[in-house]
Amino acid sequence: MRTQVVIVGSGPSGLLLGQLLTGAGIDNVILDRVGKGYILGRVRAGVLERGTVELMRRAGADARLNAEGLTHDGFSIAFDGRDHRIDLAALTGQHVTVYGQTEMTRDLMAAREAAGTSTFHEVENVALHGFDTDRPYVTYAKDGVARRIDCDVIAGCDGFHGVSRRSVPAGAMRTFERAYPFGWLGVLAEVPPVSDELVYASHERGFALCSMRSMTRSRYYVQVSADERVENWSDDRFWDELRSRLPRHHAEAVTTGASFEKSIAPLRSFVAEPLRFGRLFLVGDAAHIVPPTGAKGLNLAASDVHYLFDGLREFFLDKSMAGIGAYSGRALARVWKAVRFSWWMTTLLHHFPEGTDFEHRIQDAELDYLTHSHAAATALAENYVGLPY
Ligand code: FAD
Ligand code: DHB
Repeated sequence: MRTQVVIVGSGPSGLLLGQLLTGAGIDNVILDRVGKGYILGRVRAGVLERGTVELMRRAGADARLNAEGLTHDGFSIAFDGRDHRIDLAALTGQHVTVYGQTEMTRDLMAAREAAGTSTFHEVENVALHGFDTDRPYVTYAKDGVARRIDCDVIAGCDGFHGVSRRSVPAGAMRTFERAYPFGWLGVLAEVPPVSDELVYASHERGFALCSMRSMTRSRYYVQVSADERVENWSDDRFWDELRSRLPRHHAEAVTTGASFEKSIAPLRSFVAEPLRFGRLFLVGDAAHIVPPTGAKGLNLAASDVHYLFDGLREFFLDKSMAGIGAYSGRALARVWKAVRFSWWMTTLLHHFPEGTDFEHRIQDAELDYLTHSHAAATALAENYVGLPY
């Protein structure tokens, strides 16, 4: 088989890139090691920047997002028993859209099926070959049968644990990493959210986040230690812990109910450089991970797709190497700013088990500054709605 672009991974970055390429008449095939049902069962991000929404529009997959996505003009930072609202609209003239990654993925899969573009799920032993030449190819097995796809370009959209980054020869890549000594325990429940906006709460018992998927479905998180096990958390324990970390007016507004998803995500910052190795391009979580605090992971995957799609369009349609040559530098400049912001927001709002009194006072001072300085609030808001691209 032959195609122009093999996309490894059918998460949001692979699907978004595939849909944009198909729209531009560039042939592509997606390979994923798991099935559609498994991908649609994963509960992940919930906040979309304007740029991500715009890419969904360009991909022709934004009808349900426009109808069901919730426009949020602000969010709250809660500490010391009170709320401080960050007015995104007043500070930046922009908003964010609350719409689950699961739904975005579902819409992109439906658009891809409607376009009739090939996706092979449940493939094994994906291996990338010859990407240091201009004739790369990908091998894999499907139903026990070995297959090969020849192509011009490989897009590694296969997440942090994928094969693409691991295929790069040692010495060609530099990595940067920070692990945090905690994770997030997340719960999804069919109950109305505590507030019509998100609440990020800093508390001495640990961070908590009140988010939502709709006005009848809530997504909540509490900070837990890095080695915590989800089996230790009954729904009752979760609700009690959440309420203990919120200001009283929010705690009293929590509607509890049976959770239908509960999982723990570790927090880490990670960047691999560069993002291009000959004809192989790393995109999204395959190249970088941010802690979820700033809601940037999915949005960064989208901005990578934007830069790579620009480059591939120039490559295939204008026969120019300029865009693909610039991809790594352009994408990484934005990635590092989001890495910085996510690290900063994580450091500001979490309880660090080893934190010294000095560090706690710095956190207090930073929160106080944020609530009294228009400039500080503007810097937070500008990063939260997403830096332009
Ligand atoms: P992924 O979504 O990881 O997709 C990669 C795809 O590649 C998967 O479908 C996988 O099956 C496939 N794949 C992997 N290996 C192979 C292989 N060898 N061969 C073929 N296919 C392969 N971000 C936020 O902004 N807010 C959040 O609350 C948030 N919560 C998260 C919770 C968890 C548990 C995780 C893991 C991430 C979370 N993120 C969050 C981050 C966000 O979900 C990711 O940034 C986003 O999914 C990145 O998309 P992606 O397409 O690059 O990678
Ligand atoms: C959600 C996750 C985040 O990490 C965040 O900052 C905001 C919202 C969510 O899952 O809804």
